[in-house]
Amino acid sequence: MNEKFSTKIVKVNSTKNHQYIKAAVEFLKQGIPIAFPTETVYGLGASAFDQAAIERIFKIKGRPQDNPLIVHVANQEMVSIVAQINPQAEKLMEVFWPGPLTLILPKKEGLAPSVSAGLDSVGVRMPNHPIALNLIEAFGQALAAPSANISGKPSPTQAQHVWADLQGKVPLILDGGATEQGVESTVLDLSKDQPAILRPGVITFEMLSSYLPDLEEAEARLRDEEAPLSPGMKYRHYAPQAQINLYWGEENQVCSLMAQHLDQAQAQDKKTAVIITSFPCQLEGDLNFNVYSANTDQMLAATAKHLFEYFRLADNLGIDLILLQGVIEKDLGRALMNRMRKAAKERYIFE
Ligand code: TXA
Ligand code: MG
Repeated sequence: MNEKFSTKIVKVNSTKNHQYIKAAVEFLKQGIPIAFPTETVYGLGASAFDQAAIERIFKIKGRPQDNPLIVHVANQEMVSIVAQINPQAEKLMEVFWPGPLTLILPKKEGLAPSVSAGLDSVGVRMPNHPIALNLIEAFGQALAAPSANISGKPSPTQAQHVWADLQGKVPLILDGGATEQGVESTVLDLSKDQPAILRPGVITFEMLSSYLPDLEEAEARLRDEEAPLSPGMKYRHYAPQAQINLYWGEENQVCSLMAQHLDQAQAQDKKTAVIITSFPCQLEGDLNFNVYSANTDQMLAATAKHLFEYFRLADNLGIDLILLQGVIEKDLGRALMNRMRKAAKERYIFE
């Protein structure tokens, strides 16, 4: 099965009866995956109950079979069809949905088997995006959707990123503009005795721990590559072609080491990109991004929104080396350092 499509990318407003929402629903009914925006990153969706369609998603992305998909819902009823809800989950849904929080819950019968990749749990979330919600409602069933990139590439935060990866492989990309958050949802495991964050995201450890006093940060313990709890943890993710060097520590140390490595790279005629986040070092690569702000929360939000976009831009321009500044590991910074560590080949972290 190697379908070839002439991919259409269409701007959509949020009106429910928009003709392209209808077109998308028609494809979904035929078991053909399509791409749509969420508040985090673009998703590649198909009915969570259609095994053949789910197999197409894995094939299109080149995704390992053992990495389960998140089920996207538009209302509570859709959750109770696929998962067993407990009072803890109910509370979190009330507070954080629609929003970038995926809950791992015990699964119910009926889902396409590949959605949960053989696990007895399922990840569910209600995206906070009018196009996503209208699409799911118009289709009338939950949509299983991974990020709409080729496996291993940075997640797509713009419709053009989806196009670059999936052109010819999907018939339709609903274009809702650049996504608001830019990093994938927080994955919170509520299927075991102790709740654990399997993937940090915009809904932070700090935000969740006031509802879950015994919350664990599984990802932090996994830095040293122990056995992964979430299948997604073991794959190198978010990586552009260019080599990434990650720098974090005290300002002067970071700036001078980056300057030294930049000089070395330039002496070897390497094309370089510099991403400034936490410290306003005076550095000039061939390509320069700067989201520095004296307001840390603003800087973190801007870094989240643009990180994957910058990675993709660097690749498009043939950059060999990206010198990337890290961020403080609290609040949204936890999710960012998680993505940065995974993307980086060399890590210069002095703590
Ligand atoms: O923001 C997002 O979550 C985006 C948008 C499209 O909603 N989706 C997304 O999906 O990032 P994906 O497939 O790229 O990442 C899903 C993550 C993987 O790390 C996977 O291992 C984990 O969620 N996951 C899904 N179901 C799971 C389960 N039952 N148990 C443990 N981890 C699970
Ligand atoms: Mg992904």
